[in-house]
Amino acid sequence: MLDKYREAGKIASKVRNEAAKKATAGMKVVDLVDWIESEIKSTGAGLSFPCNISINQIAAHYTAVPNDDTLLCNGDIVKIDLGAEVDGYISDTAVTVIIEGDNADPYDEDGKPLNMPGRLDDGNPVVTDDELEERYNILDASATALENVISIVKDGVTLNDIGKEVETTMQDMGYNPITNLAGHSLEQYNLHAGLSIPNYPDGNTTQLKEGDHVAIEPFATNGAGIVSDLPQYAIYSYIKSKPQRQPLSNQLLKNIRNNYSQFNFAGRHLLNDKFDERKLNRALRPLISSGCVYPFAVLKDKNDGMVAQTEHTIIVEKEGCEVTTL
Ligand code: CO
Repeated sequence: MLDKYREAGKIASKVRNEAAKKATAGMKVVDLVDWIESEIKSTGAGLSFPCNISINQIAAHYTAVPNDDTLLCNGDIVKIDLGAEVDGYISDTAVTVIIEGDNADPYDEDGKPLNMPGRLDDGNPVVTDDELEERYNILDASATALENVISIVKDGVTLNDIGKEVETTMQDMGYNPITNLAGHSLEQYNLHAGLSIPNYPDGNTTQLKEGDHVAIEPFATNGAGIVSDLPQYAIYSYIKSKPQRQPLSNQLLKNIRNNYSQFNFAGRHLLNDKFDERKLNRALRPLISSGCVYPFAVLKDKNDGMVAQTEHTIIVEKEGCEVTTL
């Protein structure tokens, strides 16, 4: 079991490191996620969740949607959050990169704006040197917070201690943690098992114990430090089966139940010869309203601050911890 956690960790960290180098201005988010997910699968591992690519004010839960032209642009602060699973044993890791290079034209051949639901701007932002420097500092605050937490984790550390370390580190550097996003414990086939690992001192005196598997993910921002829902979905979870009125919905639900009952999925994972984007949307809607499928809202900082995230999966030890996604 330990070996499988380690293998899942190694796969995810290798793909994460390569993805961080690959992400450049002018690249489409869909090409980056396709590359990441196929790299993970090429090792024989599965995805423990769809790869998230969250740009600037978007903190989490964005991934390429069907017909997505979202571009990465120069100066973007981009969270790449991915995970692998080996026989259900999970890794979960994230890195933030600042995008460099020349922007691509955000218009199609007819001069119409590209469809870019993964951006809150028009796809050709101007980022000043001061703004750029601030983004590097936010990234640093998130990465340093994770490093500091890892240095204090051992058997007996409380969740409050961890949250305090995150908050103190970030505030000393002039930024806020996002308080309504948290790390989580991991179990076989369960990405968000019992424990929630806070990014601020929440008063929880629960202790981590030797052998616990947890993902720790401090989010830093120059904004509110609270995320709110955007009115859009990119990632979904299977909840239950229930007969549907539309044959198309029944068909789709069967596919979801057979392939994604353990791990979350993206809409693009369901596209095939029989299901184009239009059919997919039509079939998916009743599954959501009947409670068979749960849609995760894309999350952004409430005050539109810039957001960085750094994440590792660790195993708690008597006198420290082992990072499986180093
Ligand atoms: Co996580």
